[in-house]
This record gives sequence, C-alpha cells and structure tokens, in this order.
Amino acid sequence: MDVCVIGAGYVGLTTSAVLADLGHHVTCVDKNKDRIELLNRGICPLYEPGLEELMQKNRSRLTFSDQVGEAIRQNSVIYICVGTPPMPDGSTNLSYILSVIDDLATYIQSPKTIVTKSTVPLGTNELIRKLLIEKGVDRELFKLVSNPEFLREGTAVYDMFNPDKTVVGLEDGDTASLQVMKTLYHGIDCPFVVTTLNDAELIKFSANAFLATKISFINEIARICDRSNADVTTVASTIGLDPRIGKHFLQAGLGYGGSCFPKDLSSLIHSATEKGIKPAILEAAQFVNDTQLDFYIEKIKEHLDDYSSKKVAVLGIAFKPDTDDIRSSRSVLLIEKLEKLGLQVVAYDPKAKLPSENNHGATQVDSINEAIKDADCVVIATDWPVFKSLDWNEAKKEMKGTLIVDGRNCVDPLEVRKHGLLYVGVGRI
Ligand code: NAD
Ligand code: UDX
Repeated sequence: MDVCVIGAGYVGLTTSAVLADLGHHVTCVDKNKDRIELLNRGICPLYEPGLEELMQKNRSRLTFSDQVGEAIRQNSVIYICVGTPPMPDGSTNLSYILSVIDDLATYIQSPKTIVTKSTVPLGTNELIRKLLIEKGVDRELFKLVSNPEFLREGTAVYDMFNPDKTVVGLEDGDTASLQVMKTLYHGIDCPFVVTTLNDAELIKFSANAFLATKISFINEIARICDRSNADVTTVASTIGLDPRIGKHFLQAGLGYGGSCFPKDLSSLIHSATEKGIKPAILEAAQFVNDTQLDFYIEKIKEHLDDYSSKKVAVLGIAFKPDTDDIRSSRSVLLIEKLEKLGLQVVAYDPKAKLPSENNHGATQVDSINEAIKDADCVVIATDWPVFKSLDWNEAKKEMKGTLIVDGRNCVDPLEVRKHGLLYVGVGRI
C-alpha cells in the first residue's frame, strides 16, 4: 500500500521502517527540515537499536520529505505519529495533532484512511472527525482508525515486529478500514483487537497507567523494605512468580521517566478529574514517583559528610538504557536536585546528552573513568549494561570516596561491598 507517516520521531520512524519492510511504499514526513535532511543522508536522528539498519535495508520503499501536503495528496493511508506532550496542567497538548488536521483538511482530495498512532486522550479521534467535517472535507473521503502504539524505546523495532496485540479502533460499521489494517500488518503475527475509537484510546492510557502504577507499587514496597531490613528484589521476584502478578515492571529504583508514563498518567488524571472522577490510584502512583527521588537525595545527604563540597558521578542520563531519550528522565531531575544542594556533578551516558538548557554547571564527560575519577559518590541512574558490569575493584581505585548509590537496584550489593565500598540502594539488604 502507499502510506504517508506524519512525524519522524521514535514512533513515526519505526512505523515507517517496519511498514516499508513489510513491503509497503512509505513516505515519512516531518516539519523539521533538519531532521529530514539527516534522514535523506541515511542518518537516523535518534538512537534506537536496529532502526537505522532497517531504514537502510528498505530505502527503495522508504522516502523522507518535509512536503506534508504533497505526501497527504499522494498516499491513501495517512498515519499520524506526531508528539502529544503534556501541558503544565497535566492535560495533553494537542497542538501538533491540530496542525496535522489543518494539513489534512487542506490536502485531502481523494479517499484516505487516517490512522492515529499518537497517544491521544479519549475523544480525540471524534474531535478529528468533527474538525475535518467543519473544515469542509467531504465525509466520504476519509475513514478514521485509532491504532495506538505499545512499543518501548530501546526495543522499538523488535516490539513493532512482535507486538502482543494490534488494537484497531474503528468507526461504526467500517469493515473496509479493518481490511486496510490487516493488509498493512500482513506478516505480523498477533491478535487483532477490534474496538471503537474511544475504547482504543482508553486501552492505550490504561496500559501505561497500569504499568506505571506497578512500578510505584514496588517502589513503595521498597521503601517499606528499606525501613525493615528486608530485600525488595527478593520480594519482587517471588511475588512475580504468581502469574496473576507477573515478574515484569517490579524493579524498584528512582522511578519511571520517559516520554510516555509521566505524561500519559497526568493526562489520564486530568481527563478523569474533568469527568468528575477522583483518580485516587493514579494520583497515588504519581505521588510515589514524584517523591522517589527525594528518598535517594536523603540517603546521599545521610552518607556524605559535608555533602555540599563533594563530587558526585552520575552514571546514566537517558530515562532508560538503549536510548538517547532524556524526556522526563529521572537522572536529569536527580542531577538538578544534586546541583541545587551544591554538589559538583559529573555525568556520563553512552548515548544521551545533558539537556542544552542545563545551566547549573553539571558537566558531561566521555567515559566512565573520567566521571568516577576522584568522585566521593557514584550514582547509577540508568541501568545500562555497562554500568551493571562495572569492575568495582577498579572503580574503588579511581574514586576518592566509597559511596555507591544504586538508583536502579541493578548491581549486586555483595559484589560492591567486597571491594570496601559502601552500597546504598532502595530496599536492599
Ligand atoms: P517525537 O517527539 O519523537 O516525534 C514527533 C515528530 O513529529 C517530531 O519529529 C516533530 O517534528 C514531528 N511533528 C510535529 N508536528 C508535526 C506536523 N504537524 N507535521 C509533521 N511533523 C510534525 O515523538 P514520539 O516519541 O515518536 O511520539 C509520538 C507519539 O507516539 C506521541 O503521541 C507519543 O505519546 C506516542 N508514543 C510514543 C512512544 C515512545 O516510546 N516514544 C510509544 C508509544 C506511543
Ligand atoms: C513505555 C511502555 O512500556 C510502552 O508500552 C509504551 O508504548 C511507551 O511507554 P518506554 O517509556 O519506552 O515504554 O519504557 P519502559 O521500559 O516502559 O520504562 C519506562 C520507565 O519505567 C523507565 O524510566 C524505566 O527505567 C522505568 N521502569 C521500568 C522501572 O523503574 N521499573 C521497572 O520495573 C520497569
């Protein structure tokens, strides 16, 4: 099929490359000309394992352009993959979606299947329909599909080829679009869940809210373990054996970050509140996440005498391993908090960069060794494999102090202590 993907970010680029690999002709468009220029030179503007290779493999069926209107005109399937960031009040900023609607209204001249992959609040697809009609688009010329995306950054390509489900929200009686979606995803083996537009939108928010809540749950248990001389990793792995609980998303630490969980939880809380529902569980999950960093800050203060003059090495800037994404990264927030306390912060990450607006004085260095040299304290903020397998004997020799703060509960305390270092995690013996 001929597909236009609007938005060349983590989701749009992965969607484009995967659809091209499945045999479709894809034009991926973005208003960011610099991004398109990079893509046209064969360079992926973001770090996502396997994505650049997949784009190169399928370059005969994959083109990049900043000409959004032309791409809308020429393709019968239009994917919307633009960002839906948070507003200060927690609601979703729909301005990028609204801008796409303007372009759709201007350039639709032949029948289109419009597939919303961006995560949008309940009712947004209905809003898209209403606005397109108000802007004069013939109702016969478009069908709407809500096809939320569940990929994780770091494993985006794998996830899109191997989803546990494909959710397809359709307008009433729209069997034609179901066929289009089946053709698009032909070759991907997973259950097709056909729903209404509203259900599809809410499924996406519910999935993220549930996972975020699971993380906050284990972080709360970790705090209890911490005060009780109990080990949260043992508690988590054991309760996870019960299939009703499951072993995933029970890793305690600094809390969840990223471009999805924090904003999607806020958005759902906002939507629920607007509908007169008090989202007590969602608010509690958010509260635990928001306060989890302070738990670590207190520990660092407790274990570092005269902390304000000390050097802290923060290992990890990305919100999780295998990505360069720093959106709502706990690490970046931790660095800001440490700096406010007057600590000298030196950060290292294999792929991510400190935000350009970072003007507090944290420095980023190019190697682990440079970061930990003469450090009084080392914080593992992102569980990149290279940090999990650090040689603690060597680290001890480089460091000035002995404090190791494991912000992801990802290293073995005994291994660290064996070398005369002081291990601090959350809820670990
Ligand atoms: P992103 O910020 O990486 O990319 C969005 C891209 O859209 C940007 O390159 C931007 O320039 C472009 N854009 C914005 N407005 C445009 C317009 N009018 N026309 C053309 N291009 C435009 O975002 P992302 O992380 O890929 O997320 C996209 C959507 O997918 C969001 O709704 C997000 O919640 C959802 N989502 C993201 C993930 C994830 O892991 N990143 C997973 C599932 C769902
Ligand atoms: C998430 C969802 O998993 C994915 O389905 C959705 O499409 C987008 O949002 P992503 O944000 O890429 O994916 O990363 P994820 O692996 O879910 O991790 C999110 C955050 O939770 C990270 O900061 C991670 O460190 C943290 N996390 C995850 C924990 O603190 N503990 C865990 O057990 C798991």
